[in-house]
Order: sequence, then C-alpha cells, then structure tokens
Amino acid sequence: MAPDTRHPDKLDRAVIFLGPPGAGKGTQAKELAKRYGVPHLSTGDMLREHVSKVTPLGKEAKPIMERGDLVPDSLVLRMVRERIERPDCSHGFVFDGFPRTVAQAQYLGVLLRQHGYRPPLVVHFALDPALVLRRITGRRMCKAGGEIYNIYERPPKVEGRCDSDGGELEQRPDDREEIVGPRLQAYEKQTAPLVAYYRRLGRLHDVDASKSVEEVTQRVLEIVRGARQPAH
Ligand code: AP5
Repeated sequence: MAPDTRHPDKLDRAVIFLGPPGAGKGTQAKELAKRYGVPHLSTGDMLREHVSKVTPLGKEAKPIMERGDLVPDSLVLRMVRERIERPDCSHGFVFDGFPRTVAQAQYLGVLLRQHGYRPPLVVHFALDPALVLRRITGRRMCKAGGEIYNIYERPPKVEGRCDSDGGELEQRPDDREEIVGPRLQAYEKQTAPLVAYYRRLGRLHDVDASKSVEEVTQRVLEIVRGARQPAH
C-alpha cells in the first residue's frame, strides 16, 4: 500500500498560489492539496472543463483563453463562489490561478469573511520570464487525470504516456510559443499588482520558483507550517 503522505494537521484556510504562467503553481498546488486532503481549485482547469463540455461559459471563455487574455471577472467570480460553497471546501482549499486581478482579490476577501475563513495565506512563485518559455512549451498534461509533465525537465517514463494511468499526454492550446508573450503581458499588467497588494496586507510569502520541484515543495510546506504558529 502507498504511504499516506497527508499532513496530520488541518489546513483550515485558503492558500493562494500566485505567480506567472509556468511558475509551477499547478504542480505545487496538487502536492499541497494532496498532503492536507483539501481541494485544489484551479480556475484554469475549471475553465478548461467548461470549454471541453461546450457550456455557455466555456463558449465565451475559449477564444479569450486561446489568445492568452484573462476571462472577465464576472464569469470567474461566479464560478469560484459556487465552488467554495461546496462541503468539501470546509477545511480549506488551495487556489491556483485565482485571484488574478485586484477586483478578484477584493471579492475573495469578502467571500472568505462571509464564510468564516481566516485571511488567506499567499505564496508568491517568483520566476524569471526567461525560464517561462521552456516551462510552458515543454509542458504536457494527462488528458484523463491532469498530471503535469515537462518534456525537458520532468519527462514521463514512456514518451507521450502518463506514468500514473498510461493515459495520453496532450499540450494545452495556450501553451504554443506565440501565446506565451500575451500571457506574460496579461500577468504583468493585471496580476502582478497583486504581489504588492498582498504584501501590503502582510499576507505574502516569496518562493524562488527556479529551484527544483522538491525544493519548492519544501519551502511551501515551511511557509504553511510556519503560518500555523500563533506568532503569525
Ligand atoms: P491557468 O491554467 O491558471 O494558467 P497559468 O496561470 O498561466 O499557469 P500555468 O498553468 O501555465 O502554469 P503553472 O504555474 O500552474 O505551472 P505548472 O505547475 O503547470 O490559466 C489559463 C488561462 O485561463 C488564463 O490565461 C486565463 O485566460 C484563464 N484564467 C484562469 N484563471 C483565471 C482567472 N482567475 N481570471 C481570469 N482568467 C483566468 O508548471 C509548468 C511546467 O513547468 C510543467 O511542465 C511542469 O512540469 C514544469 N515545472 C513545474 N515546476 C518546476 C520546477 N520547479 N522545475 C522544473 N520544471 C518545473
């Protein structure tokens, strides 16, 4: 039987992973959520699911995502509110890719207060834009389970196949080289101001996202455990 890697403590709060495209937010959010037994809430994954199911929201979001822009706040906020009101979120959750604008962050603050949560813990993944291209163009994801690989940095054991379930690996439509520039611009203009926003509130913790996956995981765990101490 595989060892149970879940952390014995409860998370009991919202953790936000903030950082540029390809910084490793999804990779680390899956790991932290698994360790604490809480949901990993990726707004990118939620939107991609709407796109694949061709829902009205998906139809609206698809062209916006394919050109590397942000989906309008109104669509994202409704989706997030519905998700965090589900019972599986009652012991906390890990946000990956949300909030992405100051308006989203302000709305989230209100929502968390309304639902009795403590203020969020924000982990900022700092990565040099020069490394982003390799991370993004090399990424492949399992169609079925969503496991994340990188053909340069973290290749699967068998080319094109997921190590966990043998499923087919695919490239996201917005991971093409020509879309990386617009995504980085959207990040700099609309999301990077959140670094200063959460720093001012005393909520921000920095992580050097250029380190190995294992080193970044350790740093994230230190932050989360440290923030559980009464002094914080
Ligand atoms: P989303 O899916 O959130 O994409 P993103 O923020 O651009 O982030 P990525 O998923 O590209 O990267 P990541 O940081 O998760 O990196 P990963 O762990 O995969 O959003 C997509 C789109 O949806 C947006 O453009 C927008 O249109 C829309 N959207 C989503 N949320 C929205 C919101 N709130 N508001 C409005 N619009 C929204 O890692 C990347 C690669 O690097 C992988 O191959 C991985 O294996 C590798 N890797 C990871 N860590 C390391 C490491 N330490 N060393 C070496 N390689 C590593």
